[in-house]
Amino acid sequence: MPDRASSWCEIMPTPFADVRVHRLDLAAARGDSVRLAAVLTAPERARAALFRRTDDRLRFVVTRAVLRLLLAEAGLGPPEALTIVADGNGKPEIPHSAPLRFNVAHSGAVALVAFADGRDVGVDVEAVRERPDLRDVAARFFARSEVEALGRLPAAEHAAAFHRCWVRKEACVKAAGVGLRAPLAEVVVGVGVRPGAWAATVGGGAPRAFELADVAAGSGYAAAVAVAAPAWRGGRVSV
Ligand SMILES: CC(C)(COP(=O)(O)OP(=O)(O)OC[C@H]1O[C@@H](n2cnc3c(N)ncnc32)[C@H](O)[C@@H]1OP(=O)(O)O)[C@@H](O)C(=O)NCCC(=O)NCCS
Repeated sequence: MPDRASSWCEIMPTPFADVRVHRLDLAAARGDSVRLAAVLTAPERARAALFRRTDDRLRFVVTRAVLRLLLAEAGLGPPEALTIVADGNGKPEIPHSAPLRFNVAHSGAVALVAFADGRDVGVDVEAVRERPDLRDVAARFFARSEVEALGRLPAAEHAAAFHRCWVRKEACVKAAGVGLRAPLAEVVVGVGVRPGAWAATVGGGAPRAFELADVAAGSGYAAAVAVAAPAWRGGRVSV
């Protein structure tokens, strides 16, 4: 990692002993982006060049480079030589790799890179913002109990509670590898503030259980990390 990385890359606490979540401050990492880009592969550089917005390009370059550097630190090989491919659902992975699993997410000026030992992991972060369609989105993607709980909150708390619920769901479906095609309303995670870890299931062909926890990603952001519950290690679910 670049020497200055400690100023923009920090490890966030989670309740899981075998899970590590790194929080990247993308604005602060900007000065290192050229050096970081050196560990990207030619296809990754080509992909970066396709982003029209500088911020989107920076987000991809920094996050992918840090992922490579951290995988290298974990002993998987030189960062630029690691083969990272998308599986059938688009989830990046290292084929036939050691038990280390990973997942990344980015929103605004924050990216998260999560690792878990031998357990599928998913992470999500979203910048909390007021959105006029919040109730419609909740009605479509939240469980009835979550919609009702959201409705009981004062309007000033809606945006934070909505995003809290959303990132929890997305972390679970990213851990399952299926992404947003999963039946999100069936992934019941709640809208309230909740310390510690708890469980949720992702349905479909063969439901899978996940352990879930919120991540303190900074003021103005909601974030969560999910890992396959011990009895459900490995495998994929189709929806
Ligand atoms: C994956 C998905 C949840 C990402 O949501 P998002 O809010 O736009 O983006 P996030 O910042 O949370 O996450 C992006 C990262 O998730 C990872 N990702 C991509 N697909 C994934 C999947 N199926 N499961 C878990 N993680 C995935 C990638 O690392 C990606 O970052 P990168 O492209 O820079 O490497 C969303 O795009 C989705 O559901 N896609 C559907 C998957 C799909 O239908 N694939 C079709 C077959 S290719």
